[in-house]
Amino acid sequence: MAFTYFFRDQHTLEHVVEQVTHAFSGSSRIRVWDAGCAMGPEPYSLAMLFAERMGQFAFRNLHFDATDVDGSQLFGEIIARGVYDDDVIGRIPQPIRDKYFRKADAPGKWEIHERLRARVRFHRHDLLSLAPVGDEYALVVCKNVLLHFQPAERVDVLRMYHRVLLPGGFLAMEQTQKLPEELTPLFEHVVGDAQLYRKRARPDTPS
Ligand SMILES: C[S@@+](CC[C@H](N)C(=O)[O-])C[C@H]1O[C@@H](n2cnc3c(N)ncnc32)[C@H](O)[C@@H]1O
Repeated sequence: MAFTYFFRDQHTLEHVVEQVTHAFSGSSRIRVWDAGCAMGPEPYSLAMLFAERMGQFAFRNLHFDATDVDGSQLFGEIIARGVYDDDVIGRIPQPIRDKYFRKADAPGKWEIHERLRARVRFHRHDLLSLAPVGDEYALVVCKNVLLHFQPAERVDVLRMYHRVLLPGGFLAMEQTQKLPEELTPLFEHVVGDAQLYRKRARPDTPS
């Protein structure tokens, strides 16, 4: 269930970063919720892409809430330490890997740069509680999680994301996860080749 890897669906992540930085440039605080983050490759991949795009100064305005239901707190510990095996980081494009990781003390381990770690906070959280971990998000990323839920649960969780997004905020899902029909008045589809949506300022009106 926790299958994940760095730079998974890089195509969607790049669209996400481009759209969010364009829409929220000039904001002094950009909140991101990565819901169902597993042990961290997804929020850290996004953080690296944002850092590349925004530059050091603006990147400090980003705040990631990375959440997962995993009960053991193991994911939280992995994310907080930011240490991964070399076969895990092998998928990261080399110039980015060289920039954001350094060798850890243990053999075969790599440690993510403090500048990224400082931006990502893990919370253990069950999406089906429908109690969000925060609000005023510019972006919610929920990939390869909703497929585990019943259709009605999926709609409830997506309505929760809608509530906590800023007007004009973005929602990203995996390529195979379509927005349920009844929620199309709430979100507009942003790009044709990714499941990337934008919260409408008012239901059924363009944002
Ligand atoms: C396949 S992983 C996806 C990881 C990452 N988002 C990606 O796309 O690579 C699915 C994750 O969803 C989490 N998950 C499943 N049910 C959940 C729930 N009710 N609340 C929060 N997370 C949940 C699992 O623990 C797992 O880490």
